[in-house]
Amino acid sequence: MSNILVVGGAGYIGSHVTKELIKAGHKAIVFDNLITSRKEDIVSGADFIFGDVRNPADIGGAMKQDIDAVIYLAALKAAGESMVIPEKYAVNNISGAINLFNAMAENNVKKIIFSSTAAVYGEPQYLPIDEKHPTEPINFYGFTKLEIERILKWYDKLKNIRFAALRYFNAVGYDVEGVVNSLEQQPNNLLPVVMEAVIGKRPQVELFGDDYDTPDGTCVRDYIHVSDLSSAHLLALDYLIKYDESFTANLGTESGLSVKEIIDAVKKISGVDFVVKISPRRPGDPPKLLANSQKAYDLLGWKAQYSDIDTIVKTMLRAYGHSS
Ligand SMILES: NC(=O)c1ccc[n+]([C@@H]2O[C@H](COP(=O)([O-])OP(=O)(O)OC[C@H]3O[C@@H](n4cnc5c(N)ncnc54)[C@H](O)[C@@H]3O)[C@@H](O)[C@H]2O)c1
Repeated sequence: MSNILVVGGAGYIGSHVTKELIKAGHKAIVFDNLITSRKEDIVSGADFIFGDVRNPADIGGAMKQDIDAVIYLAALKAAGESMVIPEKYAVNNISGAINLFNAMAENNVKKIIFSSTAAVYGEPQYLPIDEKHPTEPINFYGFTKLEIERILKWYDKLKNIRFAALRYFNAVGYDVEGVVNSLEQQPNNLLPVVMEAVIGKRPQVELFGDDYDTPDGTCVRDYIHVSDLSSAHLLALDYLIKYDESFTANLGTESGLSVKEIIDAVKKISGVDFVVKISPRRPGDPPKLLANSQKAYDLLGWKAQYSDIDTIVKTMLRAYGHSS
């Protein structure tokens, strides 16, 4: 059993990871400022420290708890907003990361799993995208994550902090065991928006572009179930303990789903025929994004198990209170 500080552990992915840590017998200490999450959604059995990574005293204090490893999920993640208010993202994500890594160095905490993103790659130059693909983010959010990865590489060299940078593609779904059902408060992504249309919280779903060069004309993305993401964190933790070696790996399925396929599947499974409005393409949306996740398999033995469309949709409908 290890003591794991889960920074951002009250959020959507963090709650799922926290649940898996507890299930595996670890002590999970959630550190969060609840900016996009709620205290009542923190997984039962976890300790909670209310704090902000932007404040060195907060994160320094949390690190005094005999921490064995950190899972670092706290960030602002709205790519569009990051292009309008970059300063907010610079401070929260990059300054916050520096405060966290310095607190680790000062308290001799040597292992960290970092929530990185496919957004570090930018426009795909080939598919599926592997970890050797050029990293040229096209939004400031992706830039902050790439900067944090770079800082981690230096802290590995200079402070012996070992990291796993996990580049998630599109996180979706809810706990396959049904324990975690806390909803995202201000979702921006396709599936939560579609779910809100199913339960009548939104009048319609806006589909941005149906004239892309893809089989049905709509964008294709690599959707990864959050229970699959969670298992990768547990495996990454074991890897860092066993090999004491840093790595960066994609987490995706290697197969894609189009916006239209998702909408059709949700309509079919939920039985709700919500309105879909076709709008023009959004700038910066590539037709297709797919991950090559061979490295995660080679290093961790990890492979997506729950990322099929049926499991994704059914676990989400359950969390949104819609019986399918
Ligand atoms: N959801 C996705 O599809 C996706 C894809 C790629 C990467 N990621 C990354 O995964 C991580 C988790 O994402 P999520 O979808 O669970 O988001 P989320 O917003 O639900 O969770 C983030 C958590 O961090 C907390 N937080 C933010 N700033 C903080 C600060 N300064 N101090 C303390 N706590 C702070 C928030 O209150 C929240 O609980 C993020 O780093 C995100 O960039 C997410």
